[in-house]
Amino acid sequence: MAVFPTSFDFSDVPPDVIAAARVLAAGDVVAFPTETVYGLGADATSPEAVAKIYAAKGRPQFNPLISHVFSLEAAEREGIFTPAARRLGAAFWPGPLTLILPRARGGTVCDLACAGLATVGLRVPSHPIALELLRAFGRPVAAPSANRSGRISPTQAADVVADLGATVPILDGGPCAVGVESTIVACLEDSVRLLRPGGLSVEEIEAVLGHPLDQTPAAGIQAPGMLASHYAPNAVLRLNASELRAGELGLDFGGALANASLDLSPQGDLQEAAANLYRFLRALDARGAATIAVAALPETGLGAAINDRLRRAAAPRG
Ligand code: TXA
Ligand code: MG
Repeated sequence: MAVFPTSFDFSDVPPDVIAAARVLAAGDVVAFPTETVYGLGADATSPEAVAKIYAAKGRPQFNPLISHVFSLEAAEREGIFTPAARRLGAAFWPGPLTLILPRARGGTVCDLACAGLATVGLRVPSHPIALELLRAFGRPVAAPSANRSGRISPTQAADVVADLGATVPILDGGPCAVGVESTIVACLEDSVRLLRPGGLSVEEIEAVLGHPLDQTPAAGIQAPGMLASHYAPNAVLRLNASELRAGELGLDFGGALANASLDLSPQGDLQEAAANLYRFLRALDARGAATIAVAALPETGLGAAINDRLRRAAAPRG
C-alpha cells in the first residue's frame, strides 16, 4: 500500500494510531477522537471507503462530509482559499472550525465525500490523536460524528460503542474537550457565511475577520446537519425551564433550576457547559427521562452553539 510514505518516521507514533491508519489504508472505517466530538473516519479519497461511513451511520442520504487534514498546507491542496479563508485557517487551525470552500483542481477528496457538490468541507482538528492519525495516514479523512444518524454526537469512546456497537474500531482519546461540533463557515468568492454555530464562537471569528459574519441562511447551500431535528435524544426537551414539572428530569445551567439532576456548569461557564452537553443529555436519556427540562443559557459565545443544538434536540421529530 502506497499510503505510508517510505520516508515517514513511525518511531514516535503510538501503535494504536498506526493500527488505525492501517485500517484507513485498507479502506475501512475507524472512530477517532477530535476536540469537538468523536468522528467516524474513512479515506476521503476513496468512494468505496466513504460509502462505508454512510452504511455504519445508517444515513438516509449522502450528506456532504467534513474532510479532516493535517495542516493548512494540506487543506490548500483540496480547497480554493479566499484571503478571508486563509486568515481564518491560519488563526484557528488546528481547532473547531470547518471551512466550506470551492474544490481545488487536483484535489483528492472524492465526489461522494462532497456529495457531488462543487465545494469541500475542510478542517484541521486539534486533538493530538487526530493529528497523529492524519499525519500517519497522509491523506484527508472524511468523518461525520460517530453516532447513528439523527442521534446525539458522541463525546467519549463509550458513546460510540453505545451507538455503533463494538464492530467499529475506536481510538480512545478520552472525553472531548470542546463537546459540540465545529463551527462551519463558507468562504465563497467574497462572502463569509456562518452555516452552523459550533465550538468556535462567532465573536472570535469576527475579531479575526474585522467585520461581521454573514448569518443569513444560504439559499441553495445544502447543509443537512442543519436539519431541524438533527441532534435528538430519546427524551422530549422543554427549553428555558424555570421550574421542574412532575415527571421531568432537570438539566441546569449556573444553578438556576431547583432540584435539577445535572448542572452543565454550576459556575455558569459556557465552555464547560458545551463540553458536558451531549454527555449529560445521554446520561438523562439513560435514566429513562420522558421529558428533560433545560434551564435557559445565554446566547453569547459558545451559548449560541449550545442553544442551537438544544433547539434542534427539542424540535418535533420527522
Ligand atoms: O466537529 C465536527 O465538525 C465533527 C468532527 C468529527 O469533525 N464532524 C461533524 O460532521 O459534525 P457531521 O457530518 O455530523 O456534520 C458535517 C456538516 C453537515 O451539516 C454537512 O452538511 C456540512 O458539514 N458540510 C460538509 N461539507 C459541506 C459542503 N461542501 N457544503 C455545505 N455543507 C457541508
Ligand atoms: Mg453529526
